Amino acid sequence: MSKIGIAVAGFLLASLMLLPGNADAAQEGTELEQGRYLVHQVARCIECHSPRNARGEIDRSRLLMGAPIPFESPFGTPWAFQAPALAGLPGWDSKEVVHILTTGRRLSGHQPRAPMPQYRLRSADAEAVVTYLASLR
Ligand code: HEC
Repeated sequence: MSKIGIAVAGFLLASLMLLPGNADAAQEGTELEQGRYLVHQVARCIECHSPRNARGEIDRSRLLMGAPIPFESPFGTPWAFQAPALAGLPGWDSKEVVHILTTGRRLSGHQPRAPMPQYRLRSADAEAVVTYLASLR
């Protein structure tokens, strides 16, 4: 096949994936990937919310299952010594988590203690994070 042929085939394939019916599935896949990317590479929720082994490395078999925070606040601020489990979002309402990630607070106004960062994610990004976390069971 010529280069142009390959380009056309690629375009047709891409258009097919966007046809009604496949659109939802394609959209969901993208949202999941976006969520995974944010959780692992950008906002790095895995760093605090996953237990570590004796060498201090993240325990990949228990990703996002909650972990102790093994050091104290350097600033004397209110501090949490445990980061809750996020895999599967156990006991969490997704609206609540989206609110926390977009405003830095729960719906009640309660503010999670440091070192939980006060995120100000865009709604679409927060929803992608929640979709990804909920998919981990
Ligand atoms: C620097 C460490 C750190 C990072 C990074 C981090 N967290 Fe946390 N998170 C915590 C700690 C510690 C708590 C417990 C706060 C408390 O008990 O007051 C917490 C609490 C939470 C809670 C519960 C909040 C509440 O009101 O009790 C949620 C939900 C959460 N984190 C989600 C996330 C998500 C999603 C990410 C990534 C986008 C993330 N966290 C990144 C440390 C972190």
